[in-house]
Amino acid sequence: MLGVPLPSQSFSDARYAALANKAAHGQWAASEVQAWAGKPQPAWWLPRKFHAAVVSQFYHGEMATIRMCRKLMDTVTDPAARRCVALQMADEERHAEVYRDYLREIGPLQPIEPILKAAYETALSWGDGGDGDGGAMMAAFSIILEAEALYALNYLGRWLRCPRFLRINARVSQDEARHLAFGRIYLKQNFEGLERHKRMEMYRRLKGLWRDTSSGLMKGFRIPNFLLRRRCRSWVETGWRDHQKALIAIGLISMDEARRLDGVAS
Ligand SMILES: [Fe+2]
Ligand SMILES: [Fe+2]
Repeated sequence: MLGVPLPSQSFSDARYAALANKAAHGQWAASEVQAWAGKPQPAWWLPRKFHAAVVSQFYHGEMATIRMCRKLMDTVTDPAARRCVALQMADEERHAEVYRDYLREIGPLQPIEPILKAAYETALSWGDGGDGDGGAMMAAFSIILEAEALYALNYLGRWLRCPRFLRINARVSQDEARHLAFGRIYLKQNFEGLERHKRMEMYRRLKGLWRDTSSGLMKGFRIPNFLLRRRCRSWVETGWRDHQKALIAIGLISMDEARRLDGVAS
């Protein structure tokens, strides 16, 4: 097993405390989305079943992220970082609740897409036991899966124009920005000092996860062009370049290493 030395560090980072305070002050109630934005207004051109299928994927994503947070709570020891994870878990539970409420009105919850399920399960398995890769699990969620979900949420919001969905989008995006910030600080600290071969191996695994997931979605998701129209065929490549930049920024690999491995880092 490859191990990231998840965190035995004794430092307490002021940035965690600032993020946690921001999160504590930014808590909101799921019921406020409904109160502010009323009932869902499905687009006339979109079959309800598809609408429900897409929103269901966001719900399943939140549930998977809650599982990730639980696993992190088993390994993170720094008190300020634990507070960030606990508040993130509260955020994700609230996100799941707003999607569940939305689905209650537009159609039943639809099953998770098998490709997405496989991605979540693979990433979660990296956080299991012994010297398991909590860092790889967190990078998979924070840098790749949650970032893509956020992109899809914003993209879809522009198409659906449902005030309730836009309200959800606005609220969820604020929370996700904090999660992303926490993930980047935490991962950067944890990747510092990690042996090169472990960093490279982790990078290859994350890249494999992205390729399997993005190409699988391109082939198998029921309405791929609707969600992915802008990126479409080049999404596998352009998406990876975005994630690669983020992985360079948190120190998993250097620009030179990325160039040598992939031939594309700019
Ligand atoms: Fe979330
Ligand atoms: Fe999140």
